[in-house]
Amino acid sequence: MVDSKDLLKQLDSLAQLDIDAVHAYTAAIDRIDLPDVKEQLTVFRGDHERHIVELSPFVERMGGKPPKRTPDFKGFLIQGFTAVRSMISNESALKAMKSNEELTNKSYDKALELQLPQDIRAVIEKNRGDERRHLAYVNKCIEDRVWERPEKTAA
Ligand SMILES: [Fe+2]
Repeated sequence: MVDSKDLLKQLDSLAQLDIDAVHAYTAAIDRIDLPDVKEQLTVFRGDHERHIVELSPFVERMGGKPPKRTPDFKGFLIQGFTAVRSMISNESALKAMKSNEELTNKSYDKALELQLPQDIRAVIEKNRGDERRHLAYVNKCIEDRVWERPEKTAA
């Protein structure tokens, strides 16, 4: 089983990453004007909110404090977060979210390489499933070049 200090660190950084993702999604949702894409990204932001709620009790159980819901400006997502804030087109916002989602996917994959208590593993596996869906959707948007649709409605 993983050392409890390492486990706490891992849980803490996943929760912080989910917090950063919520902020990045908010920035992207504000900038994207394709209604169906906006709606989908809002659902994904809700998944990240749920991840924070689900990870926090584990952090507390391991003796940590649940992370504050402010973006970690020194943290993992800062690059992607800044990118979304500074980009105004649908295309650039989606591409920034793609790199954010690649990062969350990688981080959840890495966490699952540890020997985890069963209840923690179950939550992390479920969250990774969400991350895979998010990335697949964003990739599909980019592949389909949704920003080039003549009408800004669902295809
Ligand atoms: Fe995600």
